[in-house]
Amino acid sequence: MAKFITEPSRTFSEYLLLPNLTTRDCVTANVNLTTPLVKFKKGSKPEFELGIPFVSAAMQSVSGETMARELGVLGGVAFVFCSQPPESQATMIANIKKKRGSDNYVIGAAVNTHDYKERIPLLVQAGAEVLCIDSSDGFSEWQSDVIAFVRKNYGEKIKIGAGNVVCEEGFRYLANAGADFVKVGIGGGAICITREQKGIGRGQASALIDVVAARDKYLKEKGIYIPICSDGGFVFDNHIIIALAMGMDFAMMGRYFAGFAESPSAIVTKDGKKYKEYWGEGSARANNWRRYGGDKMKFEEGVDSLIPFKGKLADGLDVSLNKIKSTMCNLGSLNLESFVKNARLTVVSQASLVEGGAHNVTVK
Ligand code: IMP
Repeated sequence: MAKFITEPSRTFSEYLLLPNLTTRDCVTANVNLTTPLVKFKKGSKPEFELGIPFVSAAMQSVSGETMARELGVLGGVAFVFCSQPPESQATMIANIKKKRGSDNYVIGAAVNTHDYKERIPLLVQAGAEVLCIDSSDGFSEWQSDVIAFVRKNYGEKIKIGAGNVVCEEGFRYLANAGADFVKVGIGGGAICITREQKGIGRGQASALIDVVAARDKYLKEKGIYIPICSDGGFVFDNHIIIALAMGMDFAMMGRYFAGFAESPSAIVTKDGKKYKEYWGEGSARANNWRRYGGDKMKFEEGVDSLIPFKGKLADGLDVSLNKIKSTMCNLGSLNLESFVKNARLTVVSQASLVEGGAHNVTVK
């Protein structure tokens, strides 16, 4: 008989944080959002850190050259999409590196489990420093093969994150395979129809809680801290805050970044309003680059969509970061490590969800 997990699969909307004492030094100007990007031995410093806990998704409509530079300057990393020929991705990486002049941001690139032997050497030669395996299901021997290829050819010089997983077993497999960070999430992305199409996945909060617990267990056993990236499904800034409190080290987002001017997709005007195009990597549109070779798609796992245009990245990001910092102050925390230690989370009922928004008023 199949095994049943009786706990429901939960999402970020089902949780709230309780405040702690806010001391006088707890003001947003004093909050530090630095977070590790790659694994490190307890007591030492990671080789790569992020200034803000945000990375942009490895997607055609999200992470191009402009996003990589702008997000890099602001403290994050863009994982330049690999759904393009290896040569054109390497050209993008080389251009990003050329323009890095004095800003010391990290150059990230996505890779897949099919053409990595050809792609990775080109990306590394072009200047990629941190790679990320882009796959909806990372609990696979192919991911272990890609990590082994990087270690054999580049030792610890080139970093590589793996995923996505949603449970302890998946995390363990990738940790033992040598992943530098592990990405969590199946089926929660805004443009994702994987759960509908294939019946696999897990509520993002439940997946994150389990994987963070597995990471903490691994840290106790081996003395190695592996950062956890929660990927997809962030709808509101409060979701990012809840995920950070649950122990996520950084968020990977597609829809959030696609809406800004710096994403590679076109602005579309409809009924007098400005939108940006945003399409999934598992949509037919993203797979057009393979038309003349490679596997033919048998079914889609993503949709092609429009999302509201949000203006400049720096402005939008500033608002989100301020909300994070403000909540951290509510919990009496000036850095992310103490935020997790101090966090007390409660599951909310359906009725209290209604209470949480504007209610019993006519919003003007
Ligand atoms: P979002 O931030 O909710 O828009 O989710 C972005 C994430 O969705 C990406 O980082 C991927 O993990 C995932 N994703 C991207 N394209 C597809 C797709 O076509 N199908 C399923 N998941 C996708």
